[in-house]
Amino acid sequence: MRGYLVAGNWKMNGYGAVNTKLTRSILEGWGAGATQVRLLICPPYPYLRELGQLLEGSSVALGAQNLSQHASGAYTGEVSAAMLKDVGCEFVIVGHSERRAMMGETSAVVADKFAAALGAGLRPILCVGETLAEREAKQTETVIDEQLSAVLKRTGVDAFSTAVIAYEPVWAIGTGRTASPQQAQDVHLHIRGRLKAHSSRIAERMQILYGGSVKGDNAGGLFAEPDIDGGLIGGASLKADDFLAIAAAAASSD
Ligand code: 13P
Repeated sequence: MRGYLVAGNWKMNGYGAVNTKLTRSILEGWGAGATQVRLLICPPYPYLRELGQLLEGSSVALGAQNLSQHASGAYTGEVSAAMLKDVGCEFVIVGHSERRAMMGETSAVVADKFAAALGAGLRPILCVGETLAEREAKQTETVIDEQLSAVLKRTGVDAFSTAVIAYEPVWAIGTGRTASPQQAQDVHLHIRGRLKAHSSRIAERMQILYGGSVKGDNAGGLFAEPDIDGGLIGGASLKADDFLAIAAAAASSD
């Protein structure tokens, strides 16, 4: 069984006391957790170490939202994979559409970041997804194939054995407009099929998360689909009750 991963991408939100309270509330609400469901929070860089210490010994994991593709050196403002590992991260999000669109991250850069994460022993969460214009032009699969194959070409399929993939249609992020369970399932199945062409073992074990306006009231429908193995949650990860409602939906899909 692949189990579920429910991951909170906090993006550039919160500050010290608010983040601590949110983390404590998640920990209290989740308690011992549920078999087959893991929670993950991805706070902004400055809070990672402190929140990671709060999470120690719990069933909630720590991840970062981005990393540099470089190991060290004159890259002002950047943070390396080894540094993230050093402050206690297990996961790192790679290739979020906001970074592809706003920071100009190409699929080649995303592939380098994916490789850098693995090199430091981090588990990358590779984000893929199409824009509304691409969906309307029936380019969804083509776009996702390009985003996936750039990484497959760079690292090979075996590198995916510790990775997670997140399908995040750009048109569903922060818009309140979520993909229907069927729309998401279709793309997840396609992604699994692409991996299967390289390795059926890795394809079967790969957790493929859905992201884009996931809330407590739509998570259950999404998680009931056979190829949806959890969620990458933005807005609803900033309130403990909302995030825990999504986690509960995963636990009852067990
Ligand atoms: P929302 O849940 O706010 O739509 O954000 C999704 C996302 O981008 C998670 O990475």
